[in-house]
Amino acid sequence: MAESKKRATSSNVPSTELWQRLDTTVPHNMPLYLAAVWQCESTSQADSLLAGETEGYVYQRDRHPNADLFVEACKALHQADQAAITASGMAAIALAVLSQLETGDHVLVSNQLYGRTTLLLTSELTRLGIGHTLIDPSDLQGVSEAMTAETKMVVVETIANPLLRVVDIQGLAEIAHQHQAVLLVDNTFATPAICKPLTLGADLVMESVSKFMNGHGDVMLGMLAGKEEHWGRVETVNAAWGFASSPLECWLACRGVSTLTLRMRQASATALAAARFLEDRDDIESVQYPGLQTHKDHQLASQQFSNGFGHMVTFQLSGGREAADRMIASGEIPFCPSLGDVTTTLSHPASTSHRGLSAEQRLTLGITDGTIRLSVGVDESDEVLDSLEQALQQVSE
Ligand SMILES: Cc1ncc(COP(=O)(O)O)c(C=O)c1O
Repeated sequence: MAESKKRATSSNVPSTELWQRLDTTVPHNMPLYLAAVWQCESTSQADSLLAGETEGYVYQRDRHPNADLFVEACKALHQADQAAITASGMAAIALAVLSQLETGDHVLVSNQLYGRTTLLLTSELTRLGIGHTLIDPSDLQGVSEAMTAETKMVVVETIANPLLRVVDIQGLAEIAHQHQAVLLVDNTFATPAICKPLTLGADLVMESVSKFMNGHGDVMLGMLAGKEEHWGRVETVNAAWGFASSPLECWLACRGVSTLTLRMRQASATALAAARFLEDRDDIESVQYPGLQTHKDHQLASQQFSNGFGHMVTFQLSGGREAADRMIASGEIPFCPSLGDVTTTLSHPASTSHRGLSAEQRLTLGITDGTIRLSVGVDESDEVLDSLEQALQQVSE
């Protein structure tokens, strides 16, 4: 045992004997390192560690073992050169933006992004002197025409919220690269189990790990991965702006992603069964699921996805807001304004994720007061179909 590990000074610091016992065998799973700070042997060691010349840990905000392990997992999942972990999905988007853009730059922003992302990329970036134009990411010609000499970034979601439109990542990457801009893809709804945007030409990919990536509804975390050439400022921005992740969240997320593909295959199969069930009903106006042949982007999704078409299903109840309220009141499927948990939940975009838009703006996007967004868990399809049947019966009573 190294002499350097002998500096026990309180009841919470391991003794030399304990360090020796810990070193005899290697744990098969990563321990949880809650240390906020590590002891340094000398001023020169501290100097070298803090300068990044020596590999090692000093201060949790800059670097910690549980984040490092999750970084490795995310790099492997996305076939990425680099990855960074942040305290939330929003922090990962902020990290991407602040590491790539300067005052005077311009961003093309998909008109179908998560509400808070739109807020960040429009109002917040305007405060920093960064301009934007809203685009329809399915209209490649329109995207091309919206590019300006200042455009440095294009931001889209692989599967957009809540109508589950799928974007052509390869086509968008080509347009971005013709103008020396980077393509940032929010892959939260898809996860790398279904789609790896970097392999399709995207430069940066982020996920809200709080959703299906972790998949157990008990973590708040974000991840940004990308190509080496875009990584120059990422680590500095992550540390300087204090976007740091917590060790416990990283530990839980490592456990969560170890079953990601398995969970996604199961959830996708059940989601497809639920979409087909809903498609056949008179009390449902329309259903959106990329796995349905009737979905506008089914072909594109079939080319870009593997392991299924995702765990999200959206549908419009014929009875509008009243029907939505009755469905929620039935309590058959929990109303949770989030997604990606182990059990099936539902959300109501008009009163949650898209409440910031006017009814007219929502209608333009295809969101009615009767729109319900289902996040399918790893339940068997029989259970979910039964819950849907029960809930819909109570809507019509
Ligand atoms: C598609 C998408 N991106 C990003 C976020 C932000 O992630 P977080 O809640 O982890 O900050 C969310 C959150 O709902 C989301 O749905």
